[in-house]
Amino acid sequence: MQKERTVWLGAAAVVAAAVTALAFAQAPAASTIQFPAGYRNWTHVKSMVIHDKAHPLFDAFGGIHHVYVNERGAQALRQENPKYPDGSIFVFDLLEARLESGAYVEGSRKVLAVMVKDSRKYAATGGWGFEAFAGGDPSRRAVQDAATECFQCHAAQKATDYVFSKWRP
Ligand code: HEC
Repeated sequence: MQKERTVWLGAAAVVAAAVTALAFAQAPAASTIQFPAGYRNWTHVKSMVIHDKAHPLFDAFGGIHHVYVNERGAQALRQENPKYPDGSIFVFDLLEARLESGAYVEGSRKVLAVMVKDSRKYAATGGWGFEAFAGGDPSRRAVQDAATECFQCHAAQKATDYVFSKWRP
């Protein structure tokens, strides 16, 4: 009887350990995407002002944003059907927009969003890793689950390798 009880407890412990391991395996791991130091010297792709709730992205992306691409991605961006090589990086730099005397001027930085191409590492999200840094602060990572928070929306842009921005000469 004593022996049976020990075996049963042992089995229960194994099951508990397995369940714990599974729970950790399913939780999205914190990304290791680096803060894109130097992006202000990259190619400026485009800018946009989202200033009114009439725009569906106003709550999340209201303000003035500028999009940048690094040298590796800049080549592909100029193609008609871009296919970005690994190492391509896009930055979405979002600042507050303040209306001053009839002009929208930049306020403080709200968030710096990043997309990094690594087709093997990020195969589940179109080959892109997604991260966002709150306030543009390298220590304040803001993405918990890139698949639902970011890729779900970018997925619609499959034809342009999941990138919305297009090159305007
Ligand atoms: C609801 C849709 C939506 C979600 C969710 C979304 N994005 Fe985007 N993203 C856009 C749109 C639209 C643009 C293009 C903006 C423009 O044209 O100026 C964009 C542009 C970008 C760009 C510039 C490259 C490109 O595709 O043009 C980056 C980088 C980016 N997003 C990162 C992220 C990250 C990181 C997340 C998750 C935290 C995220 N996005 C979530 C819609 C979305």
